Amino acid sequence: MPVPTIEWKNRKVRIVDQTLLPGKLKFIYCSDVKALWRAIKILQVRGAPAIGIAAAMGVVLGVQDSKAKNFSSFKRDLNKVIKYLATSRPTAVNLFWGLERMRRKAYKNKRLSITRLKKALLSEALDILKEDKVRCRRMGAYGARLVRKGDRILTHCNAGGLATADYGTALGVLFRAHKEGKRIKVYADETRPLLQGARLTAWELKNAGIDVTLLCDDMAASLMNTRGVDKVIVGADRIAANGDAANKIGTYSLAVLARYHRIPFYVVAPSSTFDFDLRSGKEIPIEERGSEEVTQFAGVRTAPKGVKTYCPAFDVTPAELITAIITEEGIFRKPFTKTLKKLKKVVSC
Ligand code: MRU
Repeated sequence: MPVPTIEWKNRKVRIVDQTLLPGKLKFIYCSDVKALWRAIKILQVRGAPAIGIAAAMGVVLGVQDSKAKNFSSFKRDLNKVIKYLATSRPTAVNLFWGLERMRRKAYKNKRLSITRLKKALLSEALDILKEDKVRCRRMGAYGARLVRKGDRILTHCNAGGLATADYGTALGVLFRAHKEGKRIKVYADETRPLLQGARLTAWELKNAGIDVTLLCDDMAASLMNTRGVDKVIVGADRIAANGDAANKIGTYSLAVLARYHRIPFYVVAPSSTFDFDLRSGKEIPIEERGSEEVTQFAGVRTAPKGVKTYCPAFDVTPAELITAIITEEGIFRKPFTKTLKKLKKVVSC
């Protein structure tokens, strides 16, 4: 990433405001938990791993001025903050994963003084950020093994540096393959309604000097049929124990199209994106966003007033349409119900 997506700076969280890209590269500083909650809600910070880091830092913001004198009142403050942050967005499990890690850290260190406990929480949030960087590099390295010289790769939404602490999940694979000299050609879906593909993915790939072509979401079938696509590579927001994967709305259609055209379909995600408590994708909560995101385009109304809308922000790709899931612990193939048990074991150690 040319700039760090999210950082801790002098008791504040510094975030690249992703709603303004690519027109403006501006940082915002969240100095309290409400500002951070809003930044997640309105997608100033977005993408599953980045949301997890933001949530962990949000906990630090939320408790840093706590007046608690003992652990039991600190615990009350902490749990209030965690409960509040958990309402910001429902689908990316990294948010809840980050919050739970912070809760565990506090409970494990309940014997510390409150001042030292606050320091321990900050260090946990910074560890989460550091670990995400390592995960990105490892996913990139595993995923690039699957990429051949000259591959034409289609991606959706933004699963890059802006969605993580480093260079991304799906885009991490592309950055690594590019660095290895594989001369890939990337197609980026614009990703209606909020255009993460057009605004963010195209920006990141262009900055990195990767050959990128932008297309509207409804052009993917035609692209596969006429120009040809060798692989579809996307990120994920929550993956159930059976491999069903929630990602940005439109991902499922790509998986269906990929199956028809016999194109391998890969999901790239860190272990923090897996929700082993859910047996299948049917249990994944799907965020519904405001109807204005569908009735408007870049702030301009494009639909008649009062029209009904359908606005899910994510969809679930059934495991059977996924060729493999690339994680920092390696590449997992079908049957996912069996192979992902190994991942669960490794990450719960
Ligand atoms: O609504 P967003 O922009 O937060 O959705 C993001 C996605 O769907 C990404 O593809 C996903 O989080 C993977 S990020 C590495």
